[in-house]
Amino acid sequence: MDLGLTGKTAIVCGSSQGLGRACAAQLSAEGASVIINGRDSDKLARVADEMRQNAVGKITPVVADLSTEAGRATLLDAFPDPDILVNNNGGPPFKPFGALAMDDVRQGVEMNMITPIALIQAVLEGMVARRFGRIVNITSVSVKMPVAGLDVSSGARAGLTGFAAGVARTVAQHNVTINQLLPGYFATERLMQGFAATAQTTGMDAEQAADQWRSQVPAQRFGTPEEFAQTCAFLCSAQAGYLTGQNILLDGGLHKAAF
Ligand SMILES: NC(=O)c1ccc[n+]([C@@H]2O[C@H](COP(=O)([O-])OP(=O)(O)OC[C@H]3O[C@@H](n4cnc5c(N)ncnc54)[C@H](OP(=O)(O)O)[C@@H]3O)[C@@H](O)[C@H]2O)c1
Repeated sequence: MDLGLTGKTAIVCGSSQGLGRACAAQLSAEGASVIINGRDSDKLARVADEMRQNAVGKITPVVADLSTEAGRATLLDAFPDPDILVNNNGGPPFKPFGALAMDDVRQGVEMNMITPIALIQAVLEGMVARRFGRIVNITSVSVKMPVAGLDVSSGARAGLTGFAAGVARTVAQHNVTINQLLPGYFATERLMQGFAATAQTTGMDAEQAADQWRSQVPAQRFGTPEEFAQTCAFLCSAQAGYLTGQNILLDGGLHKAAF
């Protein structure tokens, strides 16, 4: 299926590895010109070279720490008018509630709520004017279901979700959509951090912790970044203009609810 992305421009935040990288690669394979981002310039340059081998659209790396206003300005100065924005980052560290310092909470809110809101606000007007816009916020299954050690993640991302729910309805008439993609457990470095946190609190080794996490998933496996990216690309497609304000779980059945 042609997703209608040829000639579109996409910013994919936090895309030097993991889910962001896979989303960037998929959008580029579908014909979009993609701005990839991360904080490590050497790593980002290497990833850009690797991605170019299968890319259809142009790949442009922009090094910027999006937890800072200066970093967000750098990204937006380089590409002020994207057609597509994928909000993503590394997520707060796994920490038990009692061990959280207020600075951990502030940082989590900055990264997982304020940063995406600031970027959405900056790009929305242009999307409305061009009558095309696709915004995907990568959040987490932890918005719907608590995950041990991720209380800051759950809270900050729930705040973003509430914010986006209202804004999505104000721009829907202009063919601009805003949706959240909620990963369950995907095989990335971030998930390894989760296994390490479980290992630390239970005395298991990391492999046993991984088995325990996997056994919670009805699909009995972790998701792949590539399958996550395909759903992201569809949400960004020309065909997805009537799909907005939604929270789409990709979790192999992990969140056990009928609705
Ligand atoms: N993987 C899962 O199973 C899972 C489950 C639920 C939720 N999530 C959430 O989904 C998101 C992506 O997960 P992932 O597994 O792909 O994570 P990941 O492998 O840790 O990748 C995170 C990416 O974000 C970049 N990044 C981090 N902080 C940044 C900053 N301040 N400014 C710019 N870029 C930044 C990292 O690059 P640099 O470090 O080079 O900057 C990296 O490219 C995270 O928010 C995570 O919490 C993931």
